[in-house]
Amino acid sequence: MVFLKYILLVYYFTSIAKLDPEYYFYKKIVMRIDILTVVPELLESPFNHSILQRAKDKGLAEIYIHNIRDWSTNKHKQVDDYAFSKGAGMVMSIEPIDRAISELKSQRDYDEVIFLTPDARQFVQRDANLLSLKTNLIILCGHYKGIDQRVRDHLVTLELSIGDYVLTGGELAAAIVADAIVRLIPGVLSDETSALTDSFQDGLLTPPVYTRPAEYKGWRVPEILLSGNDKLIDDWKQEQAYERTKRIRPDMLGE
Ligand code: ADE
Repeated sequence: MVFLKYILLVYYFTSIAKLDPEYYFYKKIVMRIDILTVVPELLESPFNHSILQRAKDKGLAEIYIHNIRDWSTNKHKQVDDYAFSKGAGMVMSIEPIDRAISELKSQRDYDEVIFLTPDARQFVQRDANLLSLKTNLIILCGHYKGIDQRVRDHLVTLELSIGDYVLTGGELAAAIVADAIVRLIPGVLSDETSALTDSFQDGLLTPPVYTRPAEYKGWRVPEILLSGNDKLIDDWKQEQAYERTKRIRPDMLGE
């Protein structure tokens, strides 16, 4: 009986941790994100400030930025080539990307290889929620006129766009996706509930917020917020969230 209890306990902890028991008891669960890019400099600033830096400082996330050129065997460290189809511009080659991904995969298992590109479905809060539960992610940033389709067909497991506009490369998109994911890891935000009350988490935009002074240049904070009645304030917030969503994003209400 004691033995059975022990087995159940070990199973419980390992399934939470998604790791072997030894790892769980000796180390914190860390999310690892490997970003593959041809312009690593573009990613230095976002990952060394704010939430992402805090997550790294707290030991909750590890973010590695790799230059795809390091896997190029070309003497000029070239990572692109002319497209077979005329006039299509330069295309990212499969070889250095495959070498980079294979090397990373030989060191650990990855949950997803994400490719950021404008010709994909849009990244939404639900994606961030699901990806924040993963342990190891690779994010591949596109550049030039595109990427050899075989990378997308054989190496990438998830393609995401951050919106219907074209950026110079996937780097800024990678910073956005990583930020949205990492801030959801338990312990990253100081007030843990604040991620739950974000816009989109309950299908509504957030209600307006106010701080002191209660009156500024004659512009008053809604009286109800000064009433001290939590129930009334909660009802007001819900109403405001609904009204704001209906006005700004009726599509979220299916309208
Ligand atoms: N690369 C260029 N534009 C992009 C976009 N809108 N989303 C993701 N990656 C991109």
